[in-house]
Amino acid sequence: MPTPQVTRPSLHNATEASSAVPTGLQIGALQLANPVVLAPMAGVTDLPLREICVDLGASMAVAEMLTSDSKLLSSRKSTLRRCHSSRGGLRSVQIVGSEPQQLADAARHNADDGADIIDINMGCPAKKVCKKAAGSALLADERRVAEILNAVVSAVNVPVTLKIRTGISAQHRNGVAIAKIAEDAGIQLLTVHGRTRADRFKGEAEYQTITDIVDSVNIPVLANGDITTPEKALAVLEQTGAAGIMIGRGALGRPWLPGVIAQFLSGARTTEPSLTERFLQMRKHLTALHDFYGDFMGVRIARKHIGWFFDAAETDLSEDFSSWKRHFNALENTEAQQTLLHTLELHCSGSDSPSTNQKNELAA
Ligand SMILES: Cc1cc2nc3c(=O)[nH]c(=O)nc-3n(C[C@H](O)[C@H](O)[C@H](O)COP(=O)(O)O)c2cc1C
Repeated sequence: MPTPQVTRPSLHNATEASSAVPTGLQIGALQLANPVVLAPMAGVTDLPLREICVDLGASMAVAEMLTSDSKLLSSRKSTLRRCHSSRGGLRSVQIVGSEPQQLADAARHNADDGADIIDINMGCPAKKVCKKAAGSALLADERRVAEILNAVVSAVNVPVTLKIRTGISAQHRNGVAIAKIAEDAGIQLLTVHGRTRADRFKGEAEYQTITDIVDSVNIPVLANGDITTPEKALAVLEQTGAAGIMIGRGALGRPWLPGVIAQFLSGARTTEPSLTERFLQMRKHLTALHDFYGDFMGVRIARKHIGWFFDAAETDLSEDFSSWKRHFNALENTEAQQTLLHTLELHCSGSDSPSTNQKNELAA
């Protein structure tokens, strides 16, 4: 999974809140405090990450995609993906599948289970999900898209939202047609990733098709793809006229990013989090991962998330954390992981940047 390039100034100046910048986000009858949403990312946006991002200012965090095949729901993976809490904010449950009736049943089941919003995944580029064309493969079959959306919207009383790509390929960008089908079916919010299915994650996201979609429907549209800084978020909103934005990979190791972008868009002056603040969030995240996944899985999953924190700190602060990351990855239990981060945090408090000696000492 490629990570988009992040280049960031250390201080984001307050904007004259431009008229292109929405202040909140309406999804059906639900009113969100700001227009910046955390993207669903399978294997990433689990409950601990969603809680942290919402705590730090994301208006909503969409859960990882969930199969619509009820036979697969009792697996450990699906069971963990179905965990929600009030700290995670509005409960937007994303379902994936290809059979209209199965998706409608899954939507009803999740709504009965407490989902505030049902999101349908037609953006995932994986060749096959659940052994059948699903995710963005469905974009090639507009009739089926309509059948699925109609079936799901009529199955539940909560708002149904849809996530798509700009089309099937550069030669067949049918995002506008899909958006109109979505509006006719009663979809309340559309998220558009500015790449086609054929692009997978290659190249750069383009926002012209998103602009065309915004111009052709009357439902709110979230622009998504390669938005990693407050300045880029503002530029994309200005270009597309979208109702909001969705942040995915930019938030890896930067759970504050959606909140910082929301602040910036509201006209506030925002600063890059200091090393001390980063360690504080890292430790909170680590504890949450250990609590959520337990000792064995927690230690392994923490390596991925804490690794992203180190990577982000390297990029943002031009510091070398590679030896710390290596050391952390070699630790085999929760206590050792906690101790390392606690020690690092202590060393870093006071002097915001540890000396090379301190780093070597700790990583030894
Ligand atoms: C690891 C990973 C997992 C993803 N899982 C999902 C998913 O479950 N559902 C979905 O609709 N999109 C998924 N996506 C796509 C993202 O939601 C988002 O559309 C994409 O990453 C582009 O946004 P970004 O450039 O801000 O990351 C995933 C992306 C990544 C990198």
